[in-house]
Formats: sequence, structure tokens, C-alpha cells
Amino acid sequence: MKLLVIGNGGREHALAWKLSQSPRVHKVYVAPGNAGTAVEPQLENIPLTQTADLIEFARKQHIAITVVGPEIPLAAGIVDAFQAAGLKIFGPSQKAAQLEASKVFAKEFMRRHHIPTASYARVTDSVSAHAYLDQQSAPLVIKASGLAAGKGVVVAQTLDQARDAIEAMLVEKHLGDAGSEVIIEEFLEGIEVSFIVMTDGDHVLPLVTSQDHKRLLDGNLGPNTGGMGAYSPTPFVPPSMHAQIMRTIIDPTINGLKQEGIRYTGFLYAGLMITADDQVKVLEFNCRLGDPETQPIMLRLKTDLLALIEHAVNGTLDQAEIEWDRRAALGVVMAVQGYPDNPRKNDEIHGLTDLMVKQSHSGDFHIFHAGTQLSQDGKTMMTAGGRVLCATVLGENLRIAQQSAYQLIDQIHFDGCQMRRDIGYQGIHYQRKK
Ligand code: AMP
Ligand code: GLY
Repeated sequence: MKLLVIGNGGREHALAWKLSQSPRVHKVYVAPGNAGTAVEPQLENIPLTQTADLIEFARKQHIAITVVGPEIPLAAGIVDAFQAAGLKIFGPSQKAAQLEASKVFAKEFMRRHHIPTASYARVTDSVSAHAYLDQQSAPLVIKASGLAAGKGVVVAQTLDQARDAIEAMLVEKHLGDAGSEVIIEEFLEGIEVSFIVMTDGDHVLPLVTSQDHKRLLDGNLGPNTGGMGAYSPTPFVPPSMHAQIMRTIIDPTINGLKQEGIRYTGFLYAGLMITADDQVKVLEFNCRLGDPETQPIMLRLKTDLLALIEHAVNGTLDQAEIEWDRRAALGVVMAVQGYPDNPRKNDEIHGLTDLMVKQSHSGDFHIFHAGTQLSQDGKTMMTAGGRVLCATVLGENLRIAQQSAYQLIDQIHFDGCQMRRDIGYQGIHYQRKK
């Protein structure tokens, strides 16, 4: 059977790698993929990004199922287009993807269905935005409604910062159309976790819990990024809280969409804030898997991912059984100098060749690629900007997984590498206290 994965990040490398382990799969194409997916056995990159080209490819190659990684093609309606062409694809429709693509839609949806989230106001002109800010106190969060590649959220510590963000989005149009509608949101304090499920629109299969590290620097300082590392499971979601999240957030979301005539099929990611009094509120929905959360989650998944996706596409997810490695998994991202604002590229990456041989024998770790490319002669692995690699390992517990991940990282080198040295610290600290 042949499959197609759409995207080029670490998340897509992990998805394609996991899918290729299915005994029924002999080839996974990745469009467009990265240098990691180019050199992985059973994976093959294809240089296509346009929906029409991908549909033609899927038809000609008799692709059994296509799996979409990133939000942009989902929000642009790739699932609707594949289905209209009679092709099987796993991901939400354009309407369902609004949950991520429009923060205004998401907030109003949560309000209609009593799903706990920060209180907010929706503004479209700067005069009413400033009038609203006159009655508020900092900190506040200013969010562009549309997709902004991680640049659409400003956590304003002062009212002046909030006003600047409003001006940048609504007047100076720094984010284009994505910032033409803005949410001004109550600031929530607490621990952030990622809660990701698969759904066929009727049934929900939760994946294991995880925690991302969005800030660039150790101690959760510095600017927001796409995510500098993640681990799974997180001790911040014990079983009672898991049940609470399913009851108050996930089930009402899937059912609420259904009531509104939207059947959600795909991965659904709820970014959650757990406050000091154990309240859980939604920070954001994503209509896809998280990156880098996917990397540790896929390393822990023991079940054939293809079988799960088939159940989801066929509406029989209630019959799916899922098995996880009981160990912890932790992934550390190596990014280029200047990430996220001004990434440099074209530095040679050293140390990967030996590790690739070892990882194929071990199964306890994997180096997932994102911003990598092969040199013109195809012999040298080079950086291509942004997040470059995510070194992901399994360990008996979180602390051991963290140590092993950094031992692995210390064998890889490229000029200008940036990374955090504390991935997993909140979870490890919490477990030590208990
Ligand atoms: P979002 O894209 O909405 O998840 O926002 C990006 C990041 O901004 C989140 O991961 C949080 O770290 C932070 N953030 C978003 N909304 C809030 C909020 N209401 N209170 C505190 N931090 C927030
Ligand atoms: N890691 C956060 C995200 O994928 O949005």
C-alpha cells in the first residue's frame, strides 16, 4: 500500500516514519518533505505543494490514504478537494479547520457551547479597541484572528504594549488580513499542556498527553516560537483531570460542531492552561497535530498508525485499540541562529551519519528532521533555517529521557545552533516535589 504525507516539518517526518512501519505499507511519499524524509528507508520526497498537483499524483500512484500535517493546506480546503476527487484523506474539512484558522470563530464557538476559555472581546477597529483597553488592566493577550505562523499572539505585560500590538495589527496591518480582526483576551496564569485526540466526527480517541516549550529560552523566557521541545506523558494531567478535559472540552467541542452541521475528522489539538485551582481552560485549538509534540508521541505509539487512521476515515474509531510504550519520551529541538525572527541557513550538520545507523537498530531514539537539506552533490546534510532537528528519546522516566536526549544532542553539531537546555523541567520538578 502507498501513502502520502503532506508537509515538511519534524511532525511530518515522525508521521511518515511511523506510517512506514506498518506491515501493509511499502512506500510513504512526503510532499515536499525534508532531507530527513529523503534519506529514510521506505520514504520518498516528491516536490509538490499545489493541491491540484497532489490530487493528480495521488490518483496516478493509487495512494490509499493521504495524511495532512500542517494547518495551512487544511484551512485552504485540501481535504474537501481530495474528497471531491474521490480520494481518501485524513484531516478536517475547511469548515472544521476554522477552529484554528479563525480565533474569532473558535472563541464564539466556545462561548456558544460553554467550553471554558479566557474571557475576551472581539475588535475590528482601533478606536473601539483602545476604548475597550481603557477599561482593562494588564497583563492582557492580543491575538490576530487569522493564521499568522506563530506571530499572531502578543502577551502584553503593560497597557502600552497592548496598544502597540493593536496598532500593529489593526492600523499598520503587519499581519495582513490575518490581523484585520483581533481578540483581546484575559491573561491566564498556570501550566500549559497539549491535549491531542483523533476523531472520526462521532468517536474520539485521545492520544497520550504532552507538554510543549513555546518560549525560545530556558525557564520559559524569551519570544514565542513554534516549540523548542516536548515530552510525553505530562504529570500535569492525571487521570481525574484527563476525564475533566474530555467531559468539559473535547466532547462538547466535537458534539457542538456536529450540532452546527460540521463533522470534524482528523487530529484535534487543544492547547490548555491549567490554573492554580485545577481549572482547565482552552488557550487555542489547532486542527492538526502539534510540532514538536508529535515526535515524542509517535515514538511512544506501539499500534499501527495506519490502522488508526483507517478507523478514523471509515467512522469506526470506537473499534480502534491503541497501545503506548509506558516509558516517557522527550524531544529537544535544535534551531538555527536567529530563529525565530532572522534564521540563518546553509551550515553543515555534523554527527548525524553515525546516529542514523544506531537509531535504525535501537528503536529507542530517533532524530526527526525539519529545516534540513542535502547539499547539491547529495553528500552533506545542511541546515535550511528555522527548527532543524528534534532529537527524541524514550527513557524509563522523564528525568532519564531528558538526560539521554541531551547526550544524543551533544553528538550533533552545526554552527550557530540554538537550543534549550531545560526541556521537561516543569514536569521533572513537579514529580520530584510529589
Ligand atoms: P495561542 O497561539 O493562542 O496558543 O498563543 C500562543 C501562546 O501565547 C500560548 O501557547 C500561550 O503561551 C500564550 N497565551 C495565549 N493565550 C494566553 C492567555 N489567555 N493567557 C496567557 N497566555 C496565553
Ligand atoms: N507546538 C505547538 C504547535 O504545534 O502549535
